[in-house]
Amino acid sequence: MEVLSTILQLKQFIYHKKEQKQTIGFVPTMGYLHKGHESLMQKAKLECDIVILSIFVNPLQFGPNEDYEVYPRDIDRDLQIAKEMNVDVVFSPSVEEMYPSEVYTKVSVSNLTSRLCGASRPGHFDGVSTVVMKLFNIVEPDKAFFGQKDAQQVAVIKQMVSDLNMNVEIVACPIIREEDGLALSSRNVYLNNNEREQAIKLFEALEHSERWIDENVTIEELKRQLYDHIASAPLAKIEYIEILSYPDLQSLEGNVTQLLVNKEIIIALAVKFGKTRLIDNRIYTGNTINVKREPDLGGIVYV
Ligand code: PAJ
Repeated sequence: MEVLSTILQLKQFIYHKKEQKQTIGFVPTMGYLHKGHESLMQKAKLECDIVILSIFVNPLQFGPNEDYEVYPRDIDRDLQIAKEMNVDVVFSPSVEEMYPSEVYTKVSVSNLTSRLCGASRPGHFDGVSTVVMKLFNIVEPDKAFFGQKDAQQVAVIKQMVSDLNMNVEIVACPIIREEDGLALSSRNVYLNNNEREQAIKLFEALEHSERWIDENVTIEELKRQLYDHIASAPLAKIEYIEILSYPDLQSLEGNVTQLLVNKEIIIALAVKFGKTRLIDNRIYTGNTINVKREPDLGGIVYV
């Protein structure tokens, strides 16, 4: 496995691989790797000849009062994991390498970024789309792998790639969870024992949502159920609980089951426990819960 820190070295490596007609799979990360990241590397290895992993804590996507300085970092452990996952190249540039001078050009995806994490973290998605655009221009991957854990990020990147006719396929991969359901995140290490115990409420609420949808709830009722469940954790400070269409992230009203007949719906959660901000989500499609029209009954039944 090669560990490269300059753009020039990486471009030279890629130039040779492309000459040999090798396909390039790219997994962008901010490091402190866990099994969620590993699942992306695994998928990339299955689908591409060469896997490139980037590890770069991108200052551009952190707000002034966020955790850029203290974001967990452990490059030695990361390199060990990358090696075990058969990654071909780890690209871990310095901030100066990625941003040698003040950034005048930013990529900004509108509409999709005004809600959810975009609303609570102004400028965050401009930072994400700008660094991902830069990394795509450096790596020129055939496919890039992203986790559905950050569902809004996936929607934003797919939109950017489509709007700007970029030659890369975005592959969205399922959320990887701890045994009790907590979605893996580099930030989980911030949680103390009490917070960790209560953090499970996010997953529980998403699990229960299936039953609540079965009970024929409206969007508002479902939101209320999710809210009550999560708020029952004394340490939970709810930032948002949203139910929107996916991937276009528009507001919805009415009966959830009826909306599911022709829409995908995302339940998206952001909750703080102490200073740790956790996000989680679940996407429902008609198929997820097997919605089927039953003409004789004039309604919808589940099978
Ligand atoms: P980071 O948070 O390190 O995540 C890197 C990738 O791993 C993202 O695509 C994210 O969705 C995925 N991921 C994280 N936790 C996951 C989980 N539990 N299951 C499945 N996938 C998971 O997301 C970023 O970094 C940055 O914004 C980045 C895209 C690298 C741009 O700086």
